[in-house]
Amino acid sequence: MLQHPPTKQRDGIQWRIDEILGRVDDAKTKQAYYYQQSISEIDGAWVMTEDGRKLMFATYSYLGLLRHPYIDQAAKDAIERYGTGTHGVRLLGGTLDIHLDLEQTIARFHGRDDAIVFSSGYVTNLATISTIVGKGDWVISDKWNHASIVDGCSLARGHFVRFRHNDMKDLERRLQQAPEGAGKLVVADAVFSMDGDIFPLPEALELCHKYNARLMIDEAHSLGVLGDTGHGIEEYFGMPGSIDIKMGTLSKTIPGVGGYIAADEEMITFLKHAARAFIFSAALPPAVVAACKAGFEVIEREGVERNRILSRNVKHFIGGLQERGFDTGVSVTPIVPIMTYSDDKALMMTKYCQENGVFVLPVLPPAVPPGKSRLRANVTAAHTIEDIDFALDVFEAAGKFAGVI
Ligand SMILES: Cc1ncc(COP(=O)(O)O)c(C=O)c1O
Repeated sequence: MLQHPPTKQRDGIQWRIDEILGRVDDAKTKQAYYYQQSISEIDGAWVMTEDGRKLMFATYSYLGLLRHPYIDQAAKDAIERYGTGTHGVRLLGGTLDIHLDLEQTIARFHGRDDAIVFSSGYVTNLATISTIVGKGDWVISDKWNHASIVDGCSLARGHFVRFRHNDMKDLERRLQQAPEGAGKLVVADAVFSMDGDIFPLPEALELCHKYNARLMIDEAHSLGVLGDTGHGIEEYFGMPGSIDIKMGTLSKTIPGVGGYIAADEEMITFLKHAARAFIFSAALPPAVVAACKAGFEVIEREGVERNRILSRNVKHFIGGLQERGFDTGVSVTPIVPIMTYSDDKALMMTKYCQENGVFVLPVLPPAVPPGKSRLRANVTAAHTIEDIDFALDVFEAAGKFAGVI
């Protein structure tokens, strides 16, 4: 076998490799490495792993639509009809009638003219922000935004600034700093993915109107979750049609993969002819497209009831954790941080939970700032009250074991 010569000096590349491998080794030494655990069966909120059956709290299937029979059947039917792939990129031979159906379904769901679907939520943010924001423009991003937004802003050729998390005074200060006449895009998560709090849409919109800025909101964690019928942040605040660019993923509440932008016709036509990730990357496969479309149909049909169960579960879960002495931060949604403030305690709690039937994972720096380590437990509509009570008992014992409570 061809051998690489030994590296003569520890260069930057080697330093970065060693840094990550060191952290992986650390978690493995503490027998608390639970990343990439393989799951062989899914049964409601329960999963089968190599070391037994566990109750899932590391999921984004907020309405419990994963394994919904109507959605699974739609995927099977699409394979029967179209096969497993496409003829390549959407702009050339890769567009199927069901791609257009899905985009129309998304547009209708969000009350917009049109929509564009990309191969993932990550790619959607990367492609959209970097396509819209050019030289001389400003992109103004909440400090707690998801990595895909940050990466999209970094890739854009315009000026990238951040405002303090959910701080509208700081947003206004940033908007005032932008030069007269510069294009301005304000971008934020609707529900923040590490802390579960909600972006103050009404105040942000007022500022965007005042300073002539466009507003882009990432609905990855609010689709199906916010609003009585699960239509997202505009429904939650009673402000339909107010956001210029609505971004969403097809991998969380919708049990598929992909991402989308819903907006006016002009914006979507522009993105379909200018976004490099749309033009130069293959179309989503038929089974995924059909499943995603079926997912939106299920939310339209069953969203109200599933959302009611989800809200009940969120209340029961957050209330139960707080009663037991846990700090759940600022969450008011299914994303529930269980703060440990220490990497070691987060790893210890994870190990205890995983060994006692609860599938949950730690969130450590750099995903959160140093000193803000936690477990992130996502509750869903697939959990029963009995499931949640079982988990609360395990979390309590784990918290005592790790010295968190
Ligand atoms: C807020 C937010 N936006 C975008 C993404 C990326 O979506 P996807 O996993 O579909 O690529 C995520 C993923 O976790 C997210 O949390």
